[in-house]
Parts: sequence; structure tokens; C-alpha cells
Amino acid sequence: MKLLVASRNAKKLNELRRVLDGAGISGIELVGLNEVPEFPEAPETEATFEGNALAKARDGAAATGLACVADDSGIEVDALNGMPGVLSARWSGTHGNDDANTALLLAQLQDVPDERRGAGFVSACALVVPGGTESVVRGEWRGVIARTPLGENGFGYDPVFVPEGDGRSAAELAAEEKDAASHRGRALRLLIPALQALV
Ligand code: IMP
Repeated sequence: MKLLVASRNAKKLNELRRVLDGAGISGIELVGLNEVPEFPEAPETEATFEGNALAKARDGAAATGLACVADDSGIEVDALNGMPGVLSARWSGTHGNDDANTALLLAQLQDVPDERRGAGFVSACALVVPGGTESVVRGEWRGVIARTPLGENGFGYDPVFVPEGDGRSAAELAAEEKDAASHRGRALRLLIPALQALV
């Protein structure tokens, strides 16, 4: 069966592929939004990660008739009272400009001492089955914001996020290491029973 993934981010698709493979789920063909060019870019207008994920998954399922999984994610920084949160992808003003978003965050935390640089990635993942069920789950990943970017892997804020219990940045982890600990890996694994029920 085909499962629509409401994202144009190939790295998010790969993460889901690895989670399905790890759970031994076969028979699901992932279709990303890059393969559905006429699909309108859904605006993220909700106040919560769960609300945005569910809206994206509902839109995807309604537009294609396929079961649809969607993620909404971001980083909550303690010293910024939980911001940028749902605004993470457009924190610098330009949607998806990872370098500018990261540079702005580092500048905002320039005078924040090491002991107050805590932060957490959050991912909400929604699965909507047309004429069937809706599921929404959440995963979190705690760490601290580094002072300079490090590492080449991953995307977004990975180079400046140092997970708890690890001296390396998230961008220095191998993909499988990140999956095992990350917010999205945790959320996607919570969806396994619902995904299993599709095949
Ligand atoms: P979304 O694609 O609308 O969910 O936006 C997520 C934004 O949060 C991205 O643009 C990244 O800046 C950030 N983000 C979410 N997950 C991660 C991650 O695993 N690593 C680094 N940044 C992330």
C-alpha cells in the first residue's frame, strides 16, 4: 500500500523508512510531497505541534485518498521561554533557512551562561487514514544549545544541539544514532502499531 508523507524533506522520509524497516514492517511504499507537485504547501497556522501535524495529515489524506503521516517539529529553548517552538522553521523570517535560523538562535543566546542553555526538540506525528482512524503522538529530546555549530549530518538546528548524555552535537551523530534518541524517532516508534494495522 502507498502511504503519503506530508513533507518535502527527504531526510524526514528516510527517517520514517528506517523506523518501518527497524520494526519489520514491509509492504508500505512511502510517497513524499515532492512526488505530488500539485499539492499545495499547507500553512502551519496552529498553536501546537499536534495541531499542525494533524492539519497536515488531514489535508494530505483528503487531497489524495491515501493514508497520510505528517510531522510537525521544532525546538523549545528554556532561556527563550520555549521559543521558537512551532515557529522554528521560520524563526529568522524566511521559512526553512536553516543557516539563518541557527545563527539567530546563537546570537540570542550569546550572553546566556552554560547552565541556562537547556533546550528540547519536539516532534508531533499524526497518521490519518481516510474513512478510518486518526492518531497523534509526541516525542521529545532534551539537550543544550552549543556556542558554535559542529558536524555535517542532519539538518536544521542539529549542529547547535548537544543531546543530554552525549558530548557531540546532533549533526555529529550517525543517522541511526540520531533515530535511536531523537524526538522524531521516538514519536514515529509510537506510531508503529497504527502503521502495522495498515498492512
Ligand atoms: P517543520 O518541517 O515545519 O516541522 O519545521 C521543523 C523545523 O524545526 C525545521 O526547519 C528545523 O529547523 C527544526 N527541526 C525539527 N526537527 C529537527 C531535527 O531533527 N533537527 C534539527 N532541526 C529540527
